[in-house]
Amino acid sequence: MKILAIETSCDETAIAVLEGEGGFENPKFKLIANNLLSQIEVHREYGGVFPSLAKREHSKNLVPILEKTLKEGNLLQSTEVESFGKKRIEEILEREPELLRSFLYTVPKIKKPGVDYIAVTYGPGLEPALWVGINFAKALSLAWDIPLIPVNHMEGHILSVLYDGKGLSNSNSQFPNKIKFPALALLISGGHTELVLMKDWLQYEIIGETQDDAVGEAFDKIARMMNLPYPGGPEISKLAETKRGVEFENQFNLPKPMIDSPNCHFSFSGLKTSILYKIKNLNLDKNTKAQMAKEFEDTVVNILLRKTKKAIGESNVKTLIIGGGVIANKEIRKAFQEFSEKEKLNLLIPEMKLTTDNAIMIGIAGYFQALRNPKGADINGIEASGNLRLI
Ligand code: KG4
Ligand code: ZN
Repeated sequence: MKILAIETSCDETAIAVLEGEGGFENPKFKLIANNLLSQIEVHREYGGVFPSLAKREHSKNLVPILEKTLKEGNLLQSTEVESFGKKRIEEILEREPELLRSFLYTVPKIKKPGVDYIAVTYGPGLEPALWVGINFAKALSLAWDIPLIPVNHMEGHILSVLYDGKGLSNSNSQFPNKIKFPALALLISGGHTELVLMKDWLQYEIIGETQDDAVGEAFDKIARMMNLPYPGGPEISKLAETKRGVEFENQFNLPKPMIDSPNCHFSFSGLKTSILYKIKNLNLDKNTKAQMAKEFEDTVVNILLRKTKKAIGESNVKTLIIGGGVIANKEIRKAFQEFSEKEKLNLLIPEMKLTTDNAIMIGIAGYFQALRNPKGADINGIEASGNLRLI
């Protein structure tokens, strides 16, 4: 089954084509083409993602990225322009005039590519950004008569571990990325921090989540307090690294909100406020910043580990999956690798390029959703859902 996947939930415009086989028993994925355009530079001066700018960038970039991806996958062939429901497409893309223009100029000349499904992220994320991708996918589905599969972005992050970056994943691999159920997924990104129990394929239960800020958001906000550029996660992590292996006394003594609460929920805003007060009257030289970065990172590792252990203990978990942009953090990776070895847990972490938002993971989730619903969704019923939850 070949899938064309589209992701525009935040500040990455991404399109991929992949092939899945093996069904639920033995899923394998082969990447055919993949392109991603990050908007980080566009948003940097605002210190965060600016929704209307994200929407504008997606509108501008989707058609060129589509062409590039199809070309890369040997799926780009020209055709005589035929009538293809132009009026309906004008309606669908009414609110994205720039996208409509480039769509009408380019897509009618492209022959229907040999893909079985189009998968698109419909939430959670920034609604203006999600709508661009959804409307684009609807227009393509209509123009080419290819069924459309709406995908939950968080499901994408979880299932991204099934792609090992080696073409047909799992095929001859000694360490196949097999999910053994029940599995637990720790999702840590700029917008989410949640522990999701997966009893079987496509069955999710959120058993813990942040009550306020997401982990990535905390990294970004603390970086901002210390005048570090956006996104703050990698900056904090770089600074903290300069203090690893060096003897020094913890001077900040940071709190760990909710660490002993009788549930698997998280809270990071108290930690952020505490740091704000602690640095208020300090001379923020590089040494102080680095020390704070290290203590903050250690505190986060501690909280994430403690809550994950609690969730594992309660549910007889066999596989631990960690996904989302924050797992690019070396210390967090290391801590969970050590923990899983000790506990003899099957740990699955996506390869580096799949930690941030991408379309490969949307294609993988789309594959399973298409197995469950081979006809695809009614395109009129698909809407952006900014706060979509896994169920
Ligand atoms: O999943 P993601 O790409 O986007 C969404 O939020 O959906 O995650 C981005 C987040 C940002 O908050 C960024 O600061 C954080 O991941 N991040 C990191 C690191 N690299 C990215 N946080 C800590 N350490 C890192 N090395
Ligand atoms: Zn994400």
